[in-house]
Amino acid sequence: MNFVTELDVKGRLVFLRVDFNVPLDEGGAIRDDTRIRASLPTIGWLLDHGARLVIASHLGRPKGKVVPAMSLGPATKRLAELVPYKVAMAPDVVGDEVRRLKRALGEGEALVLENLRFYKEEEKNDPEFARQLAEDVDVFVNDAFGSSHRAHASVVGIAAYVPVKAAGYLMKKEVDYLKKAVHTPEKPYVAILGGAKVSDKIEIIESLLGKADQILIGGAMSYTFLKAQGLGVGTSLVEEDQLEVALVILDKARTSAVSFHLPQDHVLARSPEGGTETKVVESLPFPEDMMGVDIGPKTVEAYAAVIAAAKTVFWNGPMGIFEIDEFAQGSIGVAKAIAESNAVSIVGGGDSAAAVKKAGVRDKISHISTGGGASLEYVAYETLPGITALEN
Ligand code: 3PG
Repeated sequence: MNFVTELDVKGRLVFLRVDFNVPLDEGGAIRDDTRIRASLPTIGWLLDHGARLVIASHLGRPKGKVVPAMSLGPATKRLAELVPYKVAMAPDVVGDEVRRLKRALGEGEALVLENLRFYKEEEKNDPEFARQLAEDVDVFVNDAFGSSHRAHASVVGIAAYVPVKAAGYLMKKEVDYLKKAVHTPEKPYVAILGGAKVSDKIEIIESLLGKADQILIGGAMSYTFLKAQGLGVGTSLVEEDQLEVALVILDKARTSAVSFHLPQDHVLARSPEGGTETKVVESLPFPEDMMGVDIGPKTVEAYAAVIAAAKTVFWNGPMGIFEIDEFAQGSIGVAKAIAESNAVSIVGGGDSAAAVKKAGVRDKISHISTGGGASLEYVAYETLPGITALEN
């Protein structure tokens, strides 16, 4: 895979795929610009070296329709505040006006296209759409690690129509860290998986069964594992259609060398809202009218001890409904334990990254990935469609 700094981009039309899929509030303001800032090294390098830069991203899931609330306008405005270069916004993704604007770009000038997913062809990886994206383009740079698990036109299809391809700084940094965790993790290697759904994590759990030394489970997916074993979990969130799968995973874990941990105690509440009474239980079944909302203090202590001995930690998915303060102690406890350990730590996924921020330990994590699904898929499959497209 080429790296962007190996290229001569002066005067060249460069198509840069970034992941500006940033959270917006109801008024359309950017709530967290981490992903925009994470692209600045590549954008800065390209503009410093005289590229005529076209920047493209998706935002949200507009499903092939123009949804003004999902415009890349706010992200473009934010980018223009962060770089000392001329940054313009295109009114569309492809078409005559965009072609004209692309051709008129001067060296060291940037043009941000509208949301790629306003066209259904983007997610379909439509070859004609990919060709239109690539029109007049000399160099394709992919810095959108967070989107590279999607085989979409701007991530994969476009690569076939552009002679020169390279990865940006962010892509390289993400891959370098994750590669370490996948191929040569220093042992003990501890994987912490949380979040609501077992179904999102099956492949990664299966792949980690052969790689990690310890797997620590938290979040609502624990309740699917507990119910699969016939235990009553009250009104907890359970994926009924994944009970069989959960049993198969538990079986495989038993016969593998990995230690597979489920929570030993649980914080319960009557509803998943703040201000409700909570109670910690160690034994199951849960009361029929209560649900699990976080891992309990004993589990935090046990998980922290495992993390303290780790040399490599990979964490994806919160331990509970961490957005609500009363249910955040499990995720905060795990974040702090990772921060205090000497392990190389990789945290992936917006929620886990937000939990790390809430715990105030962002600086003590070796690498916070900008990709949730992408970091999981990389760890499971050891590559991503967007990376393969750069290599071919
Ligand atoms: C993300 O936020 O994980 C990426 O931007 C990919 O978004 P998607 O899940 O809508 O494809």
